[in-house]
Amino acid sequence: MPTNQLSAIAATYGTPVYVYDANKIKTQYEKLVNGFSVLDTRIFYASKALTNLHVIKYINSLGCNIDCSSINEVKLALHAGVKPENVLYTSNGISFAEIEEAVEAGVHINIDSLSNLEKFGKKYGHSYPVGIRLRPNIMAGGNLKISTGHNKSKFGIPVEQIAELEQIVKDNNIFIRTLHIHTGSEIKDAEVFVKGIEVLFDLIPHFPELEVIDLGGGFKVPYMEHEKETNIAELAQKLKQAFADHPLANGKELQVWFEPGKFLVSECGYLLAEVNVLKQNADVIIAGINTGLNHLIRPMMYDAYHYISNLSNPNGEEKKHMITGYICETDTFASDRMLPEIKEGDILCIHNAGAYGFEMSSNYNSRYRPAEVLVKDGEAILIRRRESFEDLLKNIV
Ligand code: LLP
Repeated sequence: MPTNQLSAIAATYGTPVYVYDANKIKTQYEKLVNGFSVLDTRIFYASKALTNLHVIKYINSLGCNIDCSSINEVKLALHAGVKPENVLYTSNGISFAEIEEAVEAGVHINIDSLSNLEKFGKKYGHSYPVGIRLRPNIMAGGNLKISTGHNKSKFGIPVEQIAELEQIVKDNNIFIRTLHIHTGSEIKDAEVFVKGIEVLFDLIPHFPELEVIDLGGGFKVPYMEHEKETNIAELAQKLKQAFADHPLANGKELQVWFEPGKFLVSECGYLLAEVNVLKQNADVIIAGINTGLNHLIRPMMYDAYHYISNLSNPNGEEKKHMITGYICETDTFASDRMLPEIKEGDILCIHNAGAYGFEMSSNYNSRYRPAEVLVKDGEAILIRRRESFEDLLKNIV
């Protein structure tokens, strides 16, 4: 997005503010649609990455389905006008009551424990087609905290428990429509998805009513300048080949579902913040900005790199800076980062902040959560007001 447009938004709406570029979301969605055109595919946006109702509505208006990770995300998607048949609830560690609510809502469900599957079977038998989330025992992902498919992970039903799983399905005559796996986030290598589907190929013959293979999300986006995103067209070709190499026992063509979050909304997002104070420290200038780990926790939680630009002085002399937040805790956004010289009052822009940015924000230190602005068709629209003091008090009794 052009620098002057971002600066204008900071001037109009104040800082800190999250800005989302609808055009970028559309470009990313089109990459998925075109890349996967060689396979029978459905895309479900993993809304946990960014749940603002306007973003969900916009993504759904492009033709994309919505994936949810809590019953409240399901309710948000339905509230946004998404049809239940286009909503998927991939649960993890939840109570059976939430599964019952999801059934009442009529959405697709992936169940991730034997105990919930058994309860589901006892209550619904064959009447409600359902998916099962499996743990493929594959280690992949940007770092351990976002790796979910390995053999020590809490996610999914371990594939080695297939005998117990099959027994529960048989005893309760459950209609298994989907086999699901999600190995992790930030997976660039197409081979990881191929490995995942290979694990599932062995299991397909156990589920004769199967219609869908759901390979989850986790496509990589480039956070650092030299990084590349997952090549979707290459991945689609590899999966197509894998299917061709494994003629299915029941002769049925299976549909493939994906649940990308970051790929759709990471790069569309910018967090704009103002420089409160400068401190000179040895050979580095410390720039303290009016945001912190309460608004963007990724650098502190995952050691994530986010590109930062200085909107107020883009052509200034490059100097070594440390960019820190205003929380009473170490919340460093960047260390030893060469940036055009920063002055107090400058507006900095933290890039690639659309996914798991606002969404993971909090009121730590009793700070307000920031405003959110969506830029669509050249127009900037406020889609969430900045919080106010009343918000800090509203649930206190
Ligand atoms: N499907 C399932 C079942 C998931 O658990 C996730 C993410 C996704 C899809 C979407 O993954 P994505 O395409 O966004 O990588 N907060 C972390 C990422 C946590 C991902 C959790 N699960 C971060 O900021 O890196």
